[in-house]
Amino acid sequence: MDTTSSCEGFSLFLLFLQLIILPLVSASTDTINSTQRISDGETLVSSGGTFELGFFSPGNSTNRYVGIWYMNLTGTIIVWVANREVPITNTTGVFLTVTEPGILVLINDNNNRTIWSSNTSRTVQNPIAQLLDSGNLVLRDASDDRPENFLWQSFDYPTDTILPGMRIGWNFVTGLEVYLRSWRNNDDPAPGEFRYHLDPTGYPQILLERGSVPQNRVGPWNGIQFSGTMDAREDPTYFMSFVMNEKELYYMIPSNNRSPLSRFSLYHNGVMQNLTWVDGRGWVVYVNVPADICDTYGLCGANGICNVGNSPSCGCLDRFVPRDPEGWFRADWTNGCVRRTNLSCGGDVFRRYSGIKLPDVRFSWHNTSMTLQECRAECLRNCSCTAYTQLDISRRSGCLIWYEDLIDIRSVSPNGQDIYIRMASSESDSERMNRKLLIASLTSVIGVVLISLSLFLCILKRKKNDLKMRGGLYDGSQPKESDLPLFDLSTISKATNNFSINNKLGEGGFGPVYKGILEGGQEIAVKRSSKDSMQGRDEFKNEVVFIAKLQHRNLVRLLGCCIQGEESMLIYEYMPNNSLDVILFDETKSMLLDWEKRFHIINGVARGLLYLHQDSRLRIIHRDLKASNVLLDSDMNPKISDFGIARRFVGNETQAKTRRVVGTYGYMAPEYVVDGLFSVKSDVFSFGVLVLEIVWTLYKEDRPLDLVDASLGNLFHFSEVVRSIHVGLLCVQKNPEDRPSMSTVVMMLGNEGVLLPQPKQPGFFTERDVLAAHTATSTNAANSTNEMTITMLEGR
Ligand SMILES: *[C@@H]1O[C@H](CO)[C@@H](O)[C@H](O)[C@H]1NC(C)=O
Ligand SMILES: *[C@@H]1O[C@H](CO)[C@@H](O)[C@H](O)[C@H]1NC(C)=O
Ligand SMILES: *[C@@H]1O[C@H](CO)[C@@H](O)[C@H](O)[C@H]1NC(C)=O
Ligand SMILES: *[C@@H]1O[C@H](CO)[C@@H](O)[C@H](O)[C@H]1NC(C)=O
Ligand SMILES: *[C@@H]1O[C@H](CO)[C@@H](O)[C@H](O)[C@H]1NC(C)=O
Ligand SMILES: *[C@@H]1O[C@H](CO)[C@@H](O)[C@H](O)[C@H]1NC(C)=O
Ligand SMILES: *[C@@H]1O[C@H](CO)[C@@H](O)[C@H](O)[C@H]1NC(C)=O
Ligand SMILES: *[C@@H]1O[C@H](CO)[C@@H](O)[C@H](O)[C@H]1NC(C)=O
Ligand SMILES: *[C@@H]1O[C@H](CO)[C@@H](O)[C@H](O)[C@H]1NC(C)=O
Ligand SMILES: *[C@@H]1O[C@H](CO)[C@@H](O)[C@H](O)[C@H]1NC(C)=O
Repeated sequence: MDTTSSCEGFSLFLLFLQLIILPLVSASTDTINSTQRISDGETLVSSGGTFELGFFSPGNSTNRYVGIWYMNLTGTIIVWVANREVPITNTTGVFLTVTEPGILVLINDNNNRTIWSSNTSRTVQNPIAQLLDSGNLVLRDASDDRPENFLWQSFDYPTDTILPGMRIGWNFVTGLEVYLRSWRNNDDPAPGEFRYHLDPTGYPQILLERGSVPQNRVGPWNGIQFSGTMDAREDPTYFMSFVMNEKELYYMIPSNNRSPLSRFSLYHNGVMQNLTWVDGRGWVVYVNVPADICDTYGLCGANGICNVGNSPSCGCLDRFVPRDPEGWFRADWTNGCVRRTNLSCGGDVFRRYSGIKLPDVRFSWHNTSMTLQECRAECLRNCSCTAYTQLDISRRSGCLIWYEDLIDIRSVSPNGQDIYIRMASSESDSERMNRKLLIASLTSVIGVVLISLSLFLCILKRKKNDLKMRGGLYDGSQPKESDLPLFDLSTISKATNNFSINNKLGEGGFGPVYKGILEGGQEIAVKRSSKDSMQGRDEFKNEVVFIAKLQHRNLVRLLGCCIQGEESMLIYEYMPNNSLDVILFDETKSMLLDWEKRFHIINGVARGLLYLHQDSRLRIIHRDLKASNVLLDSDMNPKISDFGIARRFVGNETQAKTRRVVGTYGYMAPEYVVDGLFSVKSDVFSFGVLVLEIVWTLYKEDRPLDLVDASLGNLFHFSEVVRSIHVGLLCVQKNPEDRPSMSTVVMMLGNEGVLLPQPKQPGFFTERDVLAAHTATSTNAANSTNEMTITMLEGR
């Protein structure tokens, strides 16, 4: 038998039927039966004119698909695709029709192949397909339009869009799951990477998964809404029904003829949006997920809590501490948090946490009739129970219990829920009262310290602005030119736009500082020695000798120098974040300096100083450590700079005496100011002042209690602040021998366990009132940003 010719004959016959006998389906039809068909170019239109079904090509693709879209709206929004996995390249002879026993088929007449079909488990007399005004394409018997008797409906097989009336979830009887699967990309509706579904494991919650990895989670149903979503009660137009029984589990946005066009779409890149059509404005986005960083599943690790209002967003739940503090400090939150005090099982207590989105419930247990008291007892009974809460907050009943670490919690106050987390008895409320008292007393102690400190620092600041000391430079060993790269004057001149005023960054210790860009694009800072300053010349040499030989990530790096005729210049790496004082003493800028950054700076300066004192090839005393000599790179890493008056110690030398006191008031140790004695311990004093300044400026912006609570986020920070103040006070003790060495300081800052000695009297106020004793030339007090650190002072 010649199948080809019989095939052709059949096609011709069908074509004949189509053209002559069958009435062409007009745009006003919403239904087809077994004798009608839809070919490319023809469409079905729902009775109200809202939706249209037909052939389309997505994006820039030329492939043809059968799909449903909004009829009259500008811009074609495809809400459903039939043959998403089987594109049609040539629609000649391809049509959609209804056949026995009640299925919709997309047939290619040329080869008699079914491209796509719906399915059914039942048979009816007179099957028809109808596009409803809800956007649902249904197969049913012509004489029975009851939804429960539909043979098939597109709402059970959505692609990437939820329409009102669609039930997202499970039919446990048939085993059918209704879920969204993103398109592969804008041009290809084939199933993509993302799946949005109602996960029934443990207790139902919505998961957005990429492959099998959760990306985003909508919390469990709490009787009113999914935990962590916008409060349904706040938006009367937003109503969601949730059904859970032995037969089915689903949620649905009910449709209603008067409600505006609305859809929920999962895009190929994993973004989800709820959009509503507003005449004159087009599609308006109501909900956008992910809305913020805290929408990232499990961002803060086990027992972490995400709060977009905080910086960084991740914190540990109260009474929990980072499992890996080092990593946590680097914003690597994957290891999460652990209980500060381990559970003992017997005698544990519960602590309530409010305003949260409930954690992942995939490994939870629940009972719909238990009371909260029974729930608590149930949790206590099992040592592996970690937390419990009320299942249904609208009926105030039910019990939900977690047995594992708590994952993916975020702060969603005011719409959040309560959860009761198991704690060791030592964390109980009565213990808490004691702790509260402790914290309160600690706070007041810190308050007193800070108030006296602030008084001191105010004095310091005022004095600093109008009284700067200048002694001679240390008359040490003759600095010899090192093997530092030499730059050409013309190169530097070009890089700085011929030392343009626009390139000037400020005044350094021995002259102006310019920003420049070398030919290769490298940014540099150029310190230019004042021609007429002998002092500048000496400091220049001092700096070259010292800094060229030093290499540490907390010391500013000298790239080279330029000595030509009268000109002598130093070329440094450029520090985009300026010096610490600029940020610290500027009200708006200092707000950006959160505690973690501050602690990072304190630690960096400590390590830089430790290197100078003990680990470098030379043993160096900086003699002028202060906020303006700490530069910050793009990552806010601190770099100690300005070695113009640094002094090298040789052999067993530990202390030296100078007739000429050099440095900056307030940062100078009393024995140095008064007797000209300097040693590593005078640098330690300056470091102590710097630490206290850094903490103080943090304190200044907040109320003292915030220091303990909100601004610092957690007790982990709190203990760091307390430790820093303590170390700062140890460093500014009056007696140099009492002050710790920098190696001790670094250890004390880095280890929580180290027991710190009680600080003795600080050396702020010396017996001889040196501040009053000196008369000085005053410099422009307003120029504090790039202040000249050292100015002439006659005397002593
Ligand atoms: C096409 O398929 C139908 C149903 O399977 C069959 O009855 C018919 O003979 C086929 N036609 C051709 C031309 O192969
Ligand atoms: C299909 O619908 C058309 C138009 O309404 C009608 O004329 C035809 O009889 C129907 N065919 C069947 C098999 O019901
Ligand atoms: C769509 O447009 C057609 C023709 O312009 C119009 O008759 C119909 O009422 C419109 N439908 C809706 C829902 O606006
Ligand atoms: C189609 O291709 C053009 C040019 O490549 C691009 O700008 C446009 O965004 C594409 N449109 C879609 C829907 O992908
Ligand atoms: C589509 O298929 C028909 C019939 O097989 C053929 O005549 C036509 O040339 C094809 N069109 C294209 C664009 O390939
Ligand atoms: C219909 O097809 C889907 C997927 O192709 C399948 O999962 C489902 O079990 C089928 N239903 C019936 C009633 O055959
Ligand atoms: C989208 O949000 C609006 C406003 O909250 C709501 O009325 C509508 O039902 C939502 N639609 C979907 C499909 O979620
Ligand atoms: C707490 O428990 C963990 C794991 O069981 C253990 O590694 C850790 O040492 C315990 N901590 C204390 C302080 O007992
Ligand atoms: C739920 O709790 C109630 C009251 O304690 C109890 O009677 C019932 O058996 C529990 N149901 C399940 C499924 O555990
Ligand atoms: C405690 O709960 C876990 C997890 O549900 C279960 O495996 C274990 O058997 C329970 N233990 C007791 C003593 O009930």
